[in-house]
Amino acid sequence: MTARIGTELDEAVRRLRAGELVAIPTETVYGLAANALDERACLRIFEAKRRPAFDPLIVHVRSAEHAREFVRELPADAERLMRAFWPGPLTLVLPKRELVPDIVTSGLDTVAVRAPAHPLTAQLLARLEFPLAAPSANLFGRMSPTRAEDVVEQLGDELEYVLDGGPCEVGVESTILGWEEGRCVLYRPGGTPLELLEPLIGPVRVASQHSEHAPRVAAAAPGMLAAHYAPRTPLVIEANAAHPLAAGEALLAFRHARPAHACEVLSATGDLREAASRLFAALRRLDRAGATRIVAELAPERGLGRAINDRLRRAAAAST
Ligand code: TXA
Ligand code: MG
Repeated sequence: MTARIGTELDEAVRRLRAGELVAIPTETVYGLAANALDERACLRIFEAKRRPAFDPLIVHVRSAEHAREFVRELPADAERLMRAFWPGPLTLVLPKRELVPDIVTSGLDTVAVRAPAHPLTAQLLARLEFPLAAPSANLFGRMSPTRAEDVVEQLGDELEYVLDGGPCEVGVESTILGWEEGRCVLYRPGGTPLELLEPLIGPVRVASQHSEHAPRVAAAAPGMLAAHYAPRTPLVIEANAAHPLAAGEALLAFRHARPAHACEVLSATGDLREAASRLFAALRRLDRAGATRIVAELAPERGLGRAINDRLRRAAAAST
């Protein structure tokens, strides 16, 4: 079977109601969606992605009101953030209600919720009686898809239908925040920059680099999730820009092209939003260029640059 790409909401609704997987567009990356309240459907997500059961899923909801059906407690800061940034690239990890199946949360007593901003998926959620569990629609450890064709390339044999919403605007996954002992913690830098969050809720503690997200999750598999988002070609972070590239090396440049086996520029004007939106597609093209390795320049460590650099560092960690 090879997944069909289309734009019919009716078909997506029918398949999701039947407990099938459907890939959905979001403003960040494509998701591999199933009925979040149906354990068997969620199990299919883990199988299709070859995802370990200790890595929990994000539950996609229509709105803050909808999220309340699945979370037990809502800190005032969480409410404030939902009002300011939903729908949008922000995921909140909150105490879960009983009706959220354990398979979705990997047995944790918290659930990650987010209201995606893509219009097609918003319409889809409005038609469904249930929320959608959806990780990024890639094989575990690989790069997230930002176009419908990317989903088919990796998971085409694992599902029947990809709802096509065009290329993803943001291009990096959502920012993930949680609360530990009443204090806000950043588990993953993403599409909503820290600089926008802190004015609203005060200083946010950044979880250590080596826990992909929740420390509790990382504790179950020490160091594993530090390696992620990987192309097949080995990737290294450029240590010294003064060194010319070796023969066969491809360059992921932030602003300025240089002679290389292949070269992709993320944003000639240094615009971090443009750079984020181009990141995974550029890496995919370099991955196909037959290079010996990909040398990646880091972005400035601010705004969306933090999310870009996080993905590049994890891709590099996966290559060693
Ligand atoms: O932008 C996004 O967030 C995309 C789109 C599809 O919405 N989704 C996405 O999902 O990136 P995924 O599965 O690739 O990453 C979600 C991460 C997981 O790796 C997991 O560690 C974390 O969210 N997560 C989920 N539930 C959690 C929980 N209860 N506690 C801590 N972390 C959690
Ligand atoms: Mg992912």
